Amino acid sequence: MEFSIKSGSPEKQRTACVVVGVFETRKMSPACQRLDEAADGFLTELLRRGDMDGKAGSTLLLHKVPGIAAERVLLVGLGKERDFHENEYRAAVALAVRTLNETGSLEGVCYLTELPLKKRDIAWRIRQAVMAAEETLYRFDRLKSKQDAVRRPLRKLILGVAERAELPVAEQARREGEAIAAGMGFMKNLANLPGNLCTPTHLADEARALAKELNLEVEVLGRAEMEQLGMNALLAVAKGSHQPPQFIILKYAGGAPDEKPIVLVGKGITFDTGGISLKPAAEMDEMKFDMSGAASVLAALKAAALMKLPLNVIAVAPAVENMPGGGATRPGDVVTSLSGQTIEILNTDAEGRLILCDALTYVERFEPACVVDVATLTGACVIALGHVASGLLANDNALAHELLAAGEAAWDRAWQLPLFADYQEQLKSNFADMANIGGRPAGTITAAAFLSRFAKQYDWAHLDIAGTAYKSGKEKGSTGRPVPLLAHFLLERARRAQAAQKSARARRPAAQP
Ligand code: BES
Ligand code: MN
Ligand code: ZN
Repeated sequence: MEFSIKSGSPEKQRTACVVVGVFETRKMSPACQRLDEAADGFLTELLRRGDMDGKAGSTLLLHKVPGIAAERVLLVGLGKERDFHENEYRAAVALAVRTLNETGSLEGVCYLTELPLKKRDIAWRIRQAVMAAEETLYRFDRLKSKQDAVRRPLRKLILGVAERAELPVAEQARREGEAIAAGMGFMKNLANLPGNLCTPTHLADEARALAKELNLEVEVLGRAEMEQLGMNALLAVAKGSHQPPQFIILKYAGGAPDEKPIVLVGKGITFDTGGISLKPAAEMDEMKFDMSGAASVLAALKAAALMKLPLNVIAVAPAVENMPGGGATRPGDVVTSLSGQTIEILNTDAEGRLILCDALTYVERFEPACVVDVATLTGACVIALGHVASGLLANDNALAHELLAAGEAAWDRAWQLPLFADYQEQLKSNFADMANIGGRPAGTITAAAFLSRFAKQYDWAHLDIAGTAYKSGKEKGSTGRPVPLLAHFLLERARRAQAAQKSARARRPAAQP
C-alpha cells in the first residue's frame, strides 16, 4: 500500500473517506470536532441519538455528510480516553484500515495519527500507523488455489498531522515505518511458508535474491565447506535430513569501510521434528516457524538497507532441517564444535543451540562491534513470558539495555532474564566439555548459558522469540517480530554514529591557510 502525510483541514479533504475517532462516551476527537463544526453539528446530533457511543471496536460509516468534501466519514470508536494507550491506538488504526478496505474506499485520509499518547511523539504514531496498516492487510494466500480478492481494496492511506511544522519528522517516520513493515512482510512470507517449500536451500535462494534486489553482498557455505571448517555441532543436526544445510552470510555496508559491523545471527531450523528425541504430534506443524530467527535477521538487514542506515551490518543464518533419518545423531553422541569445545548431545531436540554455537564462533572473524542472536530457542520461554515479550539475555549490560529500549520504542518488547554463572553448573557432562541440555529448571537461561560459552570474544545478546515470532490457533501465522525491535536497535545505533561523526567534525581544527 501507498502512504503519504498531509496537514490540513479534515473537512476539506477531497477523498473517498476521512477517518476520525470518537472516545467513549460520545467524546469527539479534535479532527472529529472540526468535521462536526463544518457539518453544522450533524455529528453531535448523530451521537446524541445513539448511533455511536465511541466503544472500542465500533465503527460508523457515513455517506454525504453535509459541509464535508469527502465522500464518506468513518467514525472509529476509541474506548475510554484515559485507557487509550499504545495497544488501543494500534487497534484503532487496524480497525480503520480493515473497514476502509472492506467498504470500497480506494483511498482514505486518517486523522487517528493526531491522537495524543503519553510519551509517544508524532514520529512514533506515524511509524506505528504504517506498520499496523500493513499488518492488517497482510495475507498469505499464495498456496490457495483461489485467492478471495477484495473487490475495491484500499490502495492509499494518507496520514494526517495537526501542524505543518510536524511534516518533516512525519515524512521521515513514514519512510522508517514503510521500511520496517517491508522487513516484517519479508519475514512473514518466509516463516509462513511450510517446511517442504522453505528448505535451507530456499532460504539461501531468498538471501541471494535479497542481495540482488538491494545490492548486498551474499555468501553461502555448503556442507563441504562447513566440514572443512569443522562446524560439527551444526552438521550433527543436519545428519538426519535429506536437505543439505546452508550457512548464509548477508552483508550490508552502509558505514565506513573500517567501521566494525553489527552482527545479527538467526536460528534457521526450517523444520524441527526434534530429531531422534522426537517431538509429540500435536502442533508439530508449528515447527515450520523454527526458522523465524533467520528470517528476522535477513529482514532486519532488508529494513536497514531500505533506510540506508550509515552502518555496517552482517546477518548470519545457519539453515538446517532437524529430522530423525537413519543417519541422524543419537542421544549421547559427542561432537567437537567449531570452537574446539566438545558437546554431549543428550537431546537432539535442543538443536537450535547446536547450530548457533558454531555460527557464534564463525562470526568472530568479523571482529564485530556486537553480536545479537535471535532464535525460537526454548518452550520454557513461552512458559515464562507468554506471547507478549521476547526473552533477552546478554553478557554485556549496556547492550542488553539498548535492546530493551529498542523493544520499548518499537512496541515489540523484550524482558531480560539473568545469566548468572551459577546456571552453568546445569550443563555439566560426564563425557564432554558440556551437555546440550540443562534439565527442567530455567530452560531459557541454561540455553543462553550454553550459547554464552561461544560468545566470549565480543559483546553479545540473545533474543528468545519462541513465544513472540508466531501465533497459534485460528490466527496461526508469523508475527514479523522481532523485526521492529531489531530495526529500532539499528536506527538508534545509526543516530549515535551520526552524532559522534558530527561532534568529531566540530572538534577538528579549521584547516591552516
Ligand atoms: N524449537 C524448539 C523450541 C520451541 C518450542 C519453540 C515451542 C517454539 C515453541 C527447540 O528446538 C526445542 O525443541 N527446545 C527444547 C529444548 C529442550 C529439549 C531442552 C524445548 O524447549 O523443549
Ligand atoms: Mn528442537
Ligand atoms: Zn528448534
